[in-house]
Order: sequence, then structure tokens, then C-alpha cells
Amino acid sequence: MSKMEVKTSLLDNMIGVGDMVLIEPLSEDTFIENLRKRFEHNEIYTYIGSVVISMNPYKSLPIYTAEKVEEYRNRNFYELSPHIYALADEAYRSLRDQDKDQCILITGESGAGKTEASKFVMSYVAAVCGKGQEVNKVKEQLLQSNPVLEAFGNAKTVRNDNSSRFGKYMDIEFDFKGDPLGGVISNYLLEKSRVVKQPRGERNFHIFYQLLSGASDDTLKKLKLDRDFSKYNYLSLDSATVNGLDDAACFRTVRNAMQIVGFMEDEVQSVLELVAAVLKLGNLEFKPESRCNGFDESRIKDKNDLKEMCELLGIEQSVLERAFSFRTVEAKMEKVSTTLNVAQAYYARDALAKNLYSRLFSWLVNRINESIKAQTKSRKKVMGVLDIYGFEIFEDNSFEQFIINYCNEKLQQIFIELTLREEQEEYIREGIEWTNIEYFNNAIICDLIENNKNGILAMLDEECLRPGTVTDETFLDKLNTVCAEHQHFESRQSKNSKFLTDHSLPHNCFRIQHYAGKVLYRVEGFVDKNNDLLYRDLSQAMYKANHSLIKILFPEGNPAKVNLKRPLTAGFQFRASVGTLMKNLLTKNPNYIRCIKPNDKKAAHIFTDSLVCHQVRYLGLMENVRVRRAGYAFRQAYEPCLERYKMLCKQTWPHWKGPAREGVEVLLKNLQVPAEEFAYGRSKIFIRNPRTLFFLEEKRRQCLEDLATLIQKIYRGWKCRTHFLLLKKSQVVVAAWYRRFAQQKKYQNIRSSALVVQSYIRGWKARKLLRELKHKKRCEEAVTTISAYWHGTQARRELKLLKEEARRKHAVAVIWAYWLGLKVRREYRKFFRANAGKKIYDFTIQRIMQKYFMGLKKTMPSMSPVDKSWPARPYGFLDGMHQELRRIFHLWRCKKYRSQFTEEKKATYEEKLAASELFKDKKALYPSSVGQPFKGDYVEITKNPKYQKLNSLVEDKVLLADVVSKINRANGKGAPRIFLLTKKSLVLADQKTGQVKASVPLLDLSSVSVSTQSDGFFALKLKEGSTSAAKGDFLLSSDRLIEIITKLHRIGAASAERNQINIDISDEFLVQFKQDKVCVKFIPGTPKNGNGVACKRKNNRLLEVSVPSP
Ligand SMILES: Nc1ncnc2c1ncn2[C@@H]1O[C@H](COP(=O)(O)OP(=O)(O)O)[C@@H](O)[C@H]1O
Ligand SMILES: [Mg+2]
Repeated sequence: MSKMEVKTSLLDNMIGVGDMVLIEPLSEDTFIENLRKRFEHNEIYTYIGSVVISMNPYKSLPIYTAEKVEEYRNRNFYELSPHIYALADEAYRSLRDQDKDQCILITGESGAGKTEASKFVMSYVAAVCGKGQEVNKVKEQLLQSNPVLEAFGNAKTVRNDNSSRFGKYMDIEFDFKGDPLGGVISNYLLEKSRVVKQPRGERNFHIFYQLLSGASDDTLKKLKLDRDFSKYNYLSLDSATVNGLDDAACFRTVRNAMQIVGFMEDEVQSVLELVAAVLKLGNLEFKPESRCNGFDESRIKDKNDLKEMCELLGIEQSVLERAFSFRTVEAKMEKVSTTLNVAQAYYARDALAKNLYSRLFSWLVNRINESIKAQTKSRKKVMGVLDIYGFEIFEDNSFEQFIINYCNEKLQQIFIELTLREEQEEYIREGIEWTNIEYFNNAIICDLIENNKNGILAMLDEECLRPGTVTDETFLDKLNTVCAEHQHFESRQSKNSKFLTDHSLPHNCFRIQHYAGKVLYRVEGFVDKNNDLLYRDLSQAMYKANHSLIKILFPEGNPAKVNLKRPLTAGFQFRASVGTLMKNLLTKNPNYIRCIKPNDKKAAHIFTDSLVCHQVRYLGLMENVRVRRAGYAFRQAYEPCLERYKMLCKQTWPHWKGPAREGVEVLLKNLQVPAEEFAYGRSKIFIRNPRTLFFLEEKRRQCLEDLATLIQKIYRGWKCRTHFLLLKKSQVVVAAWYRRFAQQKKYQNIRSSALVVQSYIRGWKARKLLRELKHKKRCEEAVTTISAYWHGTQARRELKLLKEEARRKHAVAVIWAYWLGLKVRREYRKFFRANAGKKIYDFTIQRIMQKYFMGLKKTMPSMSPVDKSWPARPYGFLDGMHQELRRIFHLWRCKKYRSQFTEEKKATYEEKLAASELFKDKKALYPSSVGQPFKGDYVEITKNPKYQKLNSLVEDKVLLADVVSKINRANGKGAPRIFLLTKKSLVLADQKTGQVKASVPLLDLSSVSVSTQSDGFFALKLKEGSTSAAKGDFLLSSDRLIEIITKLHRIGAASAERNQINIDISDEFLVQFKQDKVCVKFIPGTPKNGNGVACKRKNNRLLEVSVPSP
């Protein structure tokens, strides 16, 4: 089923019919056919009402996954296709929610899948019940108890590779919430004969093989075992390995499971030691030894195995050895020891092995129970899972099969009782009329076996307890007499037997017609097995063992507690425990799983009709269906029924508002279902015939098709409409956008056009305005001009008039004045003398002069000789006098100025004057010297101590002392010299030392040459023939050249005896250096020579001085 499909009923996608109740027509053939059809489609589960039929698929199916668990969880039983999980869920939920204790009864033949089914149920319950650390631990322990019990209690048989050789009933206990608390396991009758002997094609219990294959070498060594199966007599070799079964891996699983369940390491070790001991025991062999009394006594052949076994179990070897040779019988306080013959010794050995193993198994169950026991005393809810060995029919059936089949009879009994009771109860609960139905009740067979007075088990016990010789034959005789009349008992020798000539019935056998078929039992071994005798010497030997586990297993070996009473027979014990189990089950709500095996070959896909038919018959499944259908074939609570079929009627579709029951009533009335076809229970509708149900189903199917079409139609419509709406919406959006865009564009166009138009209009308007304004302005200007002209004309006219008037007035006045003057003069002439005119003239002149001088006095310029200002002349006729006065004033002012001078200052000015006469406009250096005062002594010759000596050498007063450069003729470079000038001589001295280098009397000096330029070079030329001339002329340079030369010149001018010293000013002159005459030439300097004056020797006769232009 795909995940999308949602199932609401087991009727959906049904293969065949999911519930046998619905088969139409009902017959064995249709029943088997339905099973086959479902089996072939891997539908292994089918219901009969609430009973689950399970076919063993013999292959793993993907229907036990966690998803499946989820699918079935909390769903109604009929909601989904049949599954064991549905049953488990139903059971668990009614346990949890309705507080009903449950039991799961799993029945079927050996190999039909009971044990697997019980495990599925347990794992489902574990998966859906509560979670949490503690709960998970309990779950884990409960689940892990299975591998342990299976290892010790299961074996490979011809029917089943993992056949349970014991019956198991497990109570799982839950608290009020449904969380698991723990469990109790009960075990029933382990098939212990298997320990010593296995039918052909079968194996001993798994644990032996698992131990030998899976244990480590070390463990095996400790257990004194060999890995080779063939070394052990108890292990059948023909089928020691099972296909698809890894014993070694299973051993690890078992060890792990034991650990989880809570076994201590030493407990595990003890258990394995016991298993090993059983194997060793099987290897003991006996030989006869003749005794003097003529009897044979058995002796152990090879004591090695015995020794090892005793070591393993801590038993004293001699004690055990003796127990295999002698037997002590106690009777009436007397102990009698008899010898054992070889056959008895073997019997004792096997009895010990069987006992050892079966007691070990019971101990294991108890030990597990201890671990998984619920830790609380509060009330518990219980779910019991019964997995008991199935009905067995072998060729050779013995006591074990008898017991097993008895147990199955009891279970069938309980099934019949409970199913019918439950069915009846349901009708009563629902208030429906019920008529009884016939079915085969197997109570009579149970009675044959278990009747206290003349039941087979009672007979067997009686026989066992009877004194005297008791054999299996005497037992059979007894049966032949007691049960001969019973219709299910068949024996060849019974009274008036119908079977006297029945060769299929051997003489040493009896046959019982079980509910599941006839079974032939061979009586051999019945008495022994029922007695289950273990010689007391052996149990005592075991009790003496120095091994904790063995001691517990054989409590009757305790000499202190010798019990002379015979132990309870196996049959009795079993009957009692089955009785308890039945009572227990009757208190619980039963859930049935009826397992069927499809073939005898353990093969998948094979469906053997006859085999299935046989099982169907003896399981009473047909009766089951009939009973179920006797009343009503189908029932369903009102709500789900209404929910399922409400679409069949207009009133109930799609919603029914009232109670569900009324809804169903309306529905059925509307559908015109005949009234006898259904009955209304309190909570359920009961449908009598499957036909009616199928009618409803068919209608529903059709209706669903229509509905599907409708839904499709609506969906398609909806889809198209939504698509259309989407398209429309999109179209509107697109259109809106487009319109907006177009509108925008249009607007932009209009806008730009409007702008253009606007700009044109504005331009036009502006121009118009401008024109108007210009016009206005021109008009205004014109008006102004006109008015100006007009005003001007007006004004001029007026002015002209005024001038005219003024002129006239003036003329009038002049004329008037002249006339008056004339009149006055004529008047005055009468009074003045004839020379009065001259006097007036003089007076006027005087008056003018007076005014002129007074004015001059007021505007006299300053007294500074350089002030050139002079007031303007007021009258032209005073011009000559005015200039003269200016000259006189200046001379007077100068005189005044001069009269203030001291002698010294006067001398200085004279010198300056002289300098001006000498150099003004002749040498470019001159202007810079005008501002400099002529100080004379620049080196402070008198004060400087350095020059004291030099000063003292000079006799006269020093007129000038300065540092000059003496130009070296060889390279034109200057060297500093102190230049002293006195009245008589000039001295050149070293600047640093003050030592005199040359002293020249001024008389020897003929002339001085200087350039016209701004340099300070000057040559002192000596008179030819004078004493000083020998050394040659001096070419010197000084910034204060003007002062030096002026002073030199003035000295010459002042003295009478000397000639005036000539001053040559020229840009080229000759200088006498010793013998040579060198020309000194001044050229204007180029910028590359820098700002300073540079003197360079060009050749022998030429010194070139470049002077930068100022
Ligand atoms: N539901 C199932 N799915 C797959 N295999 C199954 C199933 N039930 C039984 N088997 C197979 O059948 C074998 C016998 O089943 P088991 O439960 O041991 O039988 P029973 O207990 O009735 O004797 C199992 O070992 C297993 O291989
Ligand atoms: Mg089983």
C-alpha cells in the first residue's frame, strides 16, 4: 500500500476476504481457497471476528517494521488489514483503558509460528507502551528473556528448526498507566528425554551446540570440553548443524541476553558447567563385572570423563562411581543396597542427565523471574502470553506427546468456551436476541484424560503407585478395561473392541481421537516417564557436590530431609499446572492467534491444501465462523459505520448532526435494506448476512467513484479557476504596470512638450515685455531728454534773460558808478590839490608793500638749509624782489646753520666736501659713502692692546686706521693688512701680529689710481727713484676707499712742502710691481662671477677685476 492511501477499513483493497465471517458462501473449500489466495499474496493474517488466523510464511515479510507499529497503534481492530499488531493493540488498549486483564492464546501445530507470533506480540506491546529509562530496562529484560529460554528450551525438530520443547506462559505486568513493571514466566514440562536421545533428523537443545561452537577456547578449556560435536554421545550428529543458524553467534546473543537479564558472571559460569557436565555424563560407559553372587555389576569403563565431570561439579569421584554401581533402597527404616547391572547403570546415567538438565532449566526460569519481577506491590494489570507446544502427531508418539496433546485439548476447550461465551455476552450486552448454535465440544476428550476417577492420567498414576510388578503393559491392560467404552478411546484389546482387526493399531498402543485428529500412543515408557525416577544415591551424590548450583537443584538429596513419600508423578504435576493455567486464563479476556502451517517442508510459497484443511478442521475454525455468523456476521459500532456509509444517503451526507445510531437507521431505511438483515444493538449495528455488507460496500464503492469524480470535477474546476484567477490577477498587474509605464511615457512627452511650449511662450512674453520696457524706457529717456532740453532751453532762456538783466543792471551800475564817480570826482576835484594823485599812489604802494611783507613774515619757510620751499609772489611787479629775498634768506639760513658747527664737525664736513669734489660723478662707489661718517680709526689702534706696539712705532697722530686687503699680483687674491695713515707716512702692518710690513713716507707717493666703478681697488703709486719705490706700488682694496683717498689727498693739499697727490680715475691703469708693470683692468662683472668683486690674473701683464654692476 502506498503511503498516500489511507485505510479506514479492512474491507479496503481486500484480497479474498479479510474476515472469514464475510465468506459467501461459507464452505470448507471457500474457506481454504480464501486462505490460499491471501497466503499467495503474502496476506498471512485473516480474521474470524476477533480471532487472528496466522499462516506461517516461512520467509521474512516487511510487515513488522516500526512504521507498521505506528500504523496500527491506536487504531480500531477492523480499521486496517488484518495483522497480529491489530490484535496486540486491541489487547493492550483494553488492558490499559478498560482495565481488563488480557491473555493472548497462541495455538497451532509445532512449527506453525506460535513462538514467532508471541514474540511479535511482545515486541509490539514493548514498542507502544510507556517509555523512560526504567521502563526501557524492564522491557529489555522481558524481551531478552526469550533468547535465554530458547537456547535452553528449544531444539531443531523435523517440524521446526527452532521448536519450543517446553510450554511457556508469560504474564507481563503493567501499572495503571500501562507502563510495564515486570513479568512472571511459567514453564511447562520440558521435553527432557531429548537430552539423552533425539529422534532421527533432530537435535539436542540448542545450548549444547551453541556452547561448543561459540565459547572461547579458554572457556572450553575451563569446562574441559572439546569443540568437536562427535566427541559427545548425547549430541546427535546427523543434523548437528542447522541451515541458516549460526550457533556461535547465537551463543554470543545468549551470553549478552543473560547479562541484560541480570545473571551474574559466576552464575553464567555455573550454568555452563552444568551443561558441560551433562555432556560429560553422556560419555560415561559401563561394563559388566561378574560378582560372586552371580549377578553382574556395572563398572565405569573409562574413568577419565567421570573424573573431569567430578572436577567440574566438585563431586567426590568415588561417591558418584559408587552411585552408578549400587542402589540403596530404604524400606521401613531399613537400608538395603543392591547392585546395578549395566542396563540399570545406563538408565541411572540418563535419568541423572535428564534431571540435571530439566532442573537447570526450571532454575533458569526462576532466576529470570527473579530479575524481571515487578518491584511494586501495588495492583497490576496483566497481559498473559501463552506459547505452548502445539499439537503433535508423530509416527511414534509417547508420553510427551500425550501430555502435549492433552494440553492442547485443554486450550481448545478454553477457546470454545470463551469464544462462545464472549459471543453470547456480546449479544446480551447489546440487547440482541440469541439462539444457541451447535459445535463440537471437546470437553469429553479432556474428561477421558483428566478425569480423577477413570481418566488416563489417573490410571497411570494408579499403576505407578500400585505395589507389585508394574509395566507399561499392565497399564495398557488397565486402560483397556476402564476406557473401553469411551467413544474417543481406541485400543485393539479393549472389551468388545471394534478394532480387533484394525492393523493400523498395534497391540502395545492405544489411540485417542483428539479434537485435532487421531493419535496413536505407544505405551512403552509411560510408567517410567510418569515416575520420573532418579535413584536416591545419585541425588544424594549431587547434593554432596561442592557446587552451589547443583546443591540447589537436588534438595531431596539432603540426607537430613529424607522423604520416604514417593515424589509426585510427572502426569499429576502437569495436570495440576495445566489446571492452574486454565483457571488463570479464564479470569482474563482472551485474544486468539491460531497458527497454521501451510506445508510440512518449512518452505515458503507452498500451500498444501490437505494439511491446511486438516488444521482448519481440528482447530474448529469453521465452527468458529459459523458461531460467529449464527447471529450476525458483521457488527460495527455506530460511529465508524455511519462514517463509512454516510455517503449512501442524502440525509447523512456529508454531515449527520444527530446521534450516530439514528444516522445509521436513517441510512439503512433509505437504502431499503430488509429489516431482518440487521439489528440495532446498544452501541453496534449487527448485520446478519455478508451479502448485505457487500451490498453496502458495493454501493459505497460506486458512490465513492461518483464522489471521486465529483471531487475531481470540483478540484479541476477549482484548479482551473485558481489558475485563471492567477492569470487574471497577473494580467491585471501586467496591464497596470504597462499602463503606468505608457502613461508615464505619455506624461513625460506632454511634460517636455509643455516645457518647450512654455519656454517659447515665456520667451515670447519676456521679449514682449522687454520690448515694452525698452519702449517705455526710450519714451522716458525721450521725455527726459525733451524735458531736459526744454528745461535747458528754458533755463538758458531764463539765464540769458537774467544775464541780460544782470548785464543791464551791471551796466546800469557801472554807468551809475561812472556817473557817480564822475559826479564825485567832479565834486572832489573841487576839494583836492593838483598833486594829490601822487600821494595817493605812494600811499597805495606803501600799503601794498606793507601787506606783502606782513604776509611774507607769516609764511616764512623753515630754517633747514635743504628746505626749498618759498611762498608764492602776490603781485607780478614784486617778482625780482621776491627772488632776491629768497636768495638772501637762504644764505642767511646757511650762515646760521654753519655757525652752530664745532671745529671737529667742520673738519669732517670739509673732508666730506673734499670727497665730493674728488669723486662726485666720477666714481660709482661714491654715493654709498655719503651717508657714512668718516671715523678715521676703525681698529681702535690706541685702545686695542694687540696694536700697542704698532701704535708706539708710529710717531704722528694716526689719521686713519683700517683693515684693507693687499692684492697679491700673482693670483689677484687679497690679504688683510692694517692700514695706518699719519700726516707724514702710511704704514701697512700684519693684521694679526701688528708687525709693520711696509712704511711709506707720503713724500714718496706720486699718485693714486682708482676705477670709475663701485669697487674698492686702489693703487698707491710711488715716485720713481724714491726709497720706497724699490718694492713697487701697492694695489689695495678697501670698502672705505673714498675716505682713505680723501684723507690722503687732503694731507697733500694741506702741507706746503709736498706736491699734491694726483688722483687718477680710470678703468685701466698700470701698477709697478717690482720690475714689472701690470695693467689692472676693470670690467663689468657677469652674473656667473657672483656679486662680489673678483680679481683674476689673466697673464703676466694683466689683472682683470670684474665688478658687478650696482
Ligand atoms: N510471521 C512469520 N514470519 C516469518 N517466518 C515465520 C513467521 N512465523 C514463523 N516463521 C518461521 O517458522 C518457524 C517456526 O516458527 P515457530 O514460531 O518456532 O513455530 P512454533 O512455535 O509454532 O513451533 C520460525 O523459525 C520461522 O522461521
Ligand atoms: Mg514454539
